[in-house]
Amino acid sequence: MSARIVCLPGDCIGPEVMAVAQRILRELAPDLELEDHLFGAAAIRATGDPLPDETLEACRSAAAVLKAPIGHPEFDAADVRPEQGMLRLRAELDVYTNLRPAKQGAVDLVIVRELVGGLYFGARGVREDGTVFDTCEYHPSQVERIARRAFELARSRGGRLTSVDKANVLETSRMWRRVVHEVGAEYPEVAVDDLLVDNAAMQLASAPEQFDVLVTENMFGDILSDLAAAMTGGLGLAPSASLGDAGPGVFEPVHGSAPDIAGKGIANPAAMLRSTALLLEYGLGATLRRLGDVRLRDVARSPDGGVIADYFGDFDDPEELAARLSATVGVVEHGLFPAAMVSDIVIGRGEQVEIRSLR
Ligand code: IPM
Ligand code: MG
Repeated sequence: MSARIVCLPGDCIGPEVMAVAQRILRELAPDLELEDHLFGAAAIRATGDPLPDETLEACRSAAAVLKAPIGHPEFDAADVRPEQGMLRLRAELDVYTNLRPAKQGAVDLVIVRELVGGLYFGARGVREDGTVFDTCEYHPSQVERIARRAFELARSRGGRLTSVDKANVLETSRMWRRVVHEVGAEYPEVAVDDLLVDNAAMQLASAPEQFDVLVTENMFGDILSDLAAAMTGGLGLAPSASLGDAGPGVFEPVHGSAPDIAGKGIANPAAMLRSTALLLEYGLGATLRRLGDVRLRDVARSPDGGVIADYFGDFDDPEELAARLSATVGVVEHGLFPAAMVSDIVIGRGEQVEIRSLR
């Protein structure tokens, strides 16, 4: 049995980091069918639309979507921009739960960002007098479903949930806070508290280890997740998973398409690989368990700047695992990581493979 993964290689460094992810997927789960589709700036150039119908239909019927960063300076001031395709894809697939884990040392938190509502999707326009407006809109049902996801996640982790809002100013935030606590009544085992977004930024910058799960609306989550990434190794390492109630999830790095370093072979693929790990776990967990495959659990930066890939799987035969891992390392040696980044490869104890990089 196999599963079809739609890959969106995106723009600038996108195709470079996607190539790394695809090589690792081909080694780890050879039964997966990987299918590339046009998306972002590349799609605008070819079709005039950042999310062509054909790409959207392929995504809808896929088991999961693996997405590399999109965006190109060429379209910064254009009417049709790559980012519009991204917002539309999220809305069309209704992947309203965006998980953004940030982990390093004593910090181990997940930001649960509402992804298909709020300021990025509200009414917008220009009034007759020239005033330009975007509006933040939420229906209580949108808050209820994201809150439920966040409580479920908090229950399965440290049992603490922080809801971030701006209830001292915004109507949407006051409704958000009320609904979060209504849903919270169904989760007595989770301790929930509220934090104003400006204070949340300060707390994340000064004492990020205090947090377990944070839940917040779309734009606050966009901003705070960059901050959380900066506190835990930088945007180059930050992955994300966007999930709906049914249908495929979208797995993508938090970082952008980095036009300044595109084509130089120096893009760090760690965030893309971590997103691939989330795809294997959240997007295909059940499928892969049936396939009995080894899975990439995490990719992290080691204290000396190396990249650590950590695998797990159900193997009766330790030799099979060893063979699979050395095949992966072979791929690494032959260009999985940009050559400039690899100085040494060490197979550690157990199932851990460490790839030391020069940066
Ligand atoms: C992100 C990005 C996107 C967002 C942009 C590129 C539209 O910043 O995924 O965090 O705001 O969601
Ligand atoms: Mg962002």
